[in-house]
Amino acid sequence: MVATRTRSAHRVRVIRTLATLRRTIARFRARGETIALVPTMGALHEGHLALVRAAQRHADRTIVSIFVNPAQFAPQEDLKSYPRTLTADIAALAKLKPDLVWAPSVAAMYPSGFASHIVPEGAAKAGLEDAFRPHFFAGVATVVAKLLIQCTPDFAVFGEKDYQQLKVVTRLARDLDLATHIVGVPTMRERDGLALSSRNRYLSPAERLRAPALHRALAACAAKIAAGNPIADALRLGRAQIKRAGFVLDYLEARHAETLAPIASPRDGPVRLLLAAQIGGTRLIDNVGV
Ligand code: PAJ
Repeated sequence: MVATRTRSAHRVRVIRTLATLRRTIARFRARGETIALVPTMGALHEGHLALVRAAQRHADRTIVSIFVNPAQFAPQEDLKSYPRTLTADIAALAKLKPDLVWAPSVAAMYPSGFASHIVPEGAAKAGLEDAFRPHFFAGVATVVAKLLIQCTPDFAVFGEKDYQQLKVVTRLARDLDLATHIVGVPTMRERDGLALSSRNRYLSPAERLRAPALHRALAACAAKIAAGNPIADALRLGRAQIKRAGFVLDYLEARHAETLAPIASPRDGPVRLLLAAQIGGTRLIDNVGV
């Protein structure tokens, strides 16, 4: 275990081995304390910190995991360049004083010979992120299942920013009989509407100026549907708006907010609008409720 001393002199405990993690968690449990886990890949921003605050409201002890999970990146994706900023992450966390940071190595998480993956269906096969990143949800489900088994939290906190992921892990916890309640937290945004994301740092200044067009299009689309316009018409306008702003659109879809099945009308259930779009080399995702 290493500890980092910050200006406020608060030590954030960083645990790197499963044996130490288990011992520490056993001590929490012996005192009858509840535990909340916030899984992250680091490069922490205010969106992640909102999850930590939510975790602290739910349980006595808060664990933040920081692990850039190779299993959820396809070979051509940004695993190598994904920002790794552990020192800055720990400094950001020191203000919130989580009880520990769980930062295993890749070798600790996936020891040689690792051969057991979780391949989710249902929301993981909705034809949204999975259509563009076919490996993604098996990688996420496998690592999230491992984190939940390692940390045995009462609560695990995820952002609505990754809405399909939130639905996949909610189902996963239920299907595997894990005694963890999955908590969703609304998306934190910049003042201009852009959803906070570790990948926003890849945007050039000119791309950053265009990026709020995504949330503007989602909000306009949601308002049209809420006002009674047909979903198909609202989506058509929204797709055109996003392309006009200079994005390559992967998808803009209206789905049932719980099942992620296609939905034709708000009369058929709660509607969620989800999109993914690329600008330059950066792929951004976002979503809103109607
Ligand atoms: P990461 O992208 O680091 O995100 C960690 C958590 O922060 C996720 O639950 C994500 O939805 C949430 N989050 C990101 N941006 C947010 C924002 N603007 N507002 C609110 N919450 C936000 O998602 C992952 O890592 C990984 O897939 C992980 C679940 C850790 C598995 O490897």
